[in-house]
Amino acid sequence: MTSPLSAAVRPSGRSWLLFLKYLVASAFVTTTLAYLLVYTSSFVQLRDAHLPSLSSSSKAQIEIENKHPIDNLIINARAEFAKVLGRQSYDVTSASRLYRQRRGRHPPPGFDKWFAYAQKRDAVIVEDFFDRIYSDLTPFWAIKPSTLRHQAKSYEFVVSVRKGLATFTTDDKKRVPWIQLWHGLVKEIAKDLPDVDMPVNMMDESRLLVPWEDINEYMKIATASRNLRPASEVITNFTGLVAFDAAWETSDEPYDPQFKGGHYWDLARQACPPGSPSRNETSPSDWAEHPFFPAGYPENSHHGFVQNWTYVKDPCEQPHLRGLHGTFIEPVSVSTSQKFIPLFGGSKLATNNDILIPPATYLNSDPLYSGGNSQGPNWDDKKDGLMWRGVASGGRNKAENWQHFQRHRFVQMVNATAVIKAETTRIKAETFDLPDWKHYNLMAPRNGYLGEWLNGTTDAAFVDLLCFPAERDNRGCSYSTPYFEWKEAIPMAEQYKYKYLPDIDGNSFSGRYRGFLRSTSLPIKATIYQEWHDDRLFPWLHFVPMDNTFVDIYGILEYFMGYEGQGGHDENARRIAEEGQEWAEKVLRREDMAIYTYRLLLEWARICDDNREKMGWVGDLKKGFIGAKTGP
Ligand SMILES: *[C@@H]1O[C@H](CO)[C@@H](O)[C@H](O)[C@H]1NC(C)=O
Ligand SMILES: *[C@@H]1O[C@H](CO)[C@@H](O)[C@H](O)[C@H]1NC(C)=O
Ligand SMILES: *[C@@H]1O[C@H](CO)[C@@H](O)[C@H](O)[C@H]1NC(C)=O
Ligand SMILES: *[C@@H]1O[C@H](CO)[C@@H](O)[C@H](O)[C@H]1NC(C)=O
Ligand SMILES: *[C@@H]1O[C@H](CO)[C@@H](O)[C@H](O)[C@H]1NC(C)=O
Repeated sequence: MTSPLSAAVRPSGRSWLLFLKYLVASAFVTTTLAYLLVYTSSFVQLRDAHLPSLSSSSKAQIEIENKHPIDNLIINARAEFAKVLGRQSYDVTSASRLYRQRRGRHPPPGFDKWFAYAQKRDAVIVEDFFDRIYSDLTPFWAIKPSTLRHQAKSYEFVVSVRKGLATFTTDDKKRVPWIQLWHGLVKEIAKDLPDVDMPVNMMDESRLLVPWEDINEYMKIATASRNLRPASEVITNFTGLVAFDAAWETSDEPYDPQFKGGHYWDLARQACPPGSPSRNETSPSDWAEHPFFPAGYPENSHHGFVQNWTYVKDPCEQPHLRGLHGTFIEPVSVSTSQKFIPLFGGSKLATNNDILIPPATYLNSDPLYSGGNSQGPNWDDKKDGLMWRGVASGGRNKAENWQHFQRHRFVQMVNATAVIKAETTRIKAETFDLPDWKHYNLMAPRNGYLGEWLNGTTDAAFVDLLCFPAERDNRGCSYSTPYFEWKEAIPMAEQYKYKYLPDIDGNSFSGRYRGFLRSTSLPIKATIYQEWHDDRLFPWLHFVPMDNTFVDIYGILEYFMGYEGQGGHDENARRIAEEGQEWAEKVLRREDMAIYTYRLLLEWARICDDNREKMGWVGDLKKGFIGAKTGP
């Protein structure tokens, strides 16, 4: 079902006049509706509550009495989304105006071609959707362009563009085909790109952890370098890398990223701001203790449910994550640098300094990752339950530490037998604390029936216990088989026959997320990782966010599914699943990944250019420019 909001995303051609009329009419209707919604405590049907006109008041979070906290979160998400969509650009003139406002610089040379490229591919162009590029790249304005060019080109794994042709360098073509996939993407846009080198990270794990104090200094320098010089003084083309390449052989500038191992947590917290809760918390050395969970509702939550998705992913603010996520317990490999160098990769923590690009797994058409073209059956034909299959990854799980790993915790928390055991014996489960029913005011556990309720509702299992050191029966595992049964893998397309699809981090981000978003099922997402697309996905509108302790999972399930036929919100689940899917088809397409990378590489090439401070696209500021088509 197409909602008015998502239908309104992209008016084009002759339809825009109609669209304007529609907008005026719908603004009236929604103002009235919104008024009714906020000022009467009548029953709220979210399906009818499209709320663009609430945007002005959305700063004060709207809370409606007698509503479930998740109702309020959904309503606020819709208002926020409408506000952001209202900032869409329909022509290069308004796009560059918004660019200058938001970035304090002229757009990079080639911006007009980029805009035309995006528009031709029906992209939803909102400046906010590209914020990630600027948070990743800004500190590089403090590093000399010649240093950056040298570092970028001398890395072992590089995708390069010269004279509009893309190539790549690797040490071994038989490695995971990531660089080939990234090269494939850059090849599509290379014709319009300046000469540029993009060094890429070939590991699962993100790599750069520069101390906060260094980045803070770089940010100061970078911010001071912002300028909007008069159009007549702006250099509108790139220098190119011909001279740089010619001098390459004789270049003797030393370059060593000094990748090293160590306790990831202890390295990561140095990248946290001084005074943040995690900065002085050292890594635990003994894993034998039961995992530690903060008491009460998660900090900054809305009655226990996620309301600040940025906060949930921020390890600096949540020291307990050091004992609850494989990344901080024992990653499979640690090869980290505290030097500030350019390195592009698919995901990172809030504390990492890697530059995000769309992950290679999203560029792979292999159904193992993408789920193929199947998006699953209609909502009503899906099984009313939760499905998860995966390997016990996250890092090196061992006899002494597995109780702390996120996937182990999740699989056990939705395991009926394990929950029944915890409910009836009052002995703590290995990986979690059973929340008191009063905590989320849940119906199911009131009489100790949470486990029974989960039975038949959830189906989560490992397909491989990945123990360390590996054992002969390498799917099972002597220390964890008493608690986990391994089952056969289930193709993603089969998983889409269930309504609820939790998505839990593995060694880094989970590569099936895009597939889940594009499916007609509802992703329930917990992660500490950031990705290129974060600014364009809205929690409670396109997916359901979950805390990394998973303490909210029962509350989420009961809200959507109800208990014994009562109190469910199946319509809202369906709506988020369907709108998430529609939205993914608009903003997470391969085209959108190319458009993002295109813009990122224009910016990166400018930062590596000796003329960078003077460079820009100022076509719209020149006399007689006719770039503006009137748009809504
Ligand atoms: C940049 O543009 C100027 C002026 O149009 C031109 O003289 C110069 O050759 C161009 N440089 C490159 C590298 O294309
Ligand atoms: C953290 O440690 C530093 C250095 O030991 C100290 O100066 C600082 O006060 C500590 N901060 C907090 C919040 O405890
Ligand atoms: C959300 O959390 C982030 C990171 O902790 C913080 O900077 C931001 O101010 C918070 N946003 C709101 C609206 O509270
Ligand atoms: C789950 O339900 C099935 C079917 O009713 C039953 O046979 C099984 O014992 C239950 N499992 C648990 C752990 O209670
Ligand atoms: C659920 O927990 C029980 C008891 O701990 C365990 O025997 C069983 O293998 C678990 N099931 C799965 C699918 O992991």
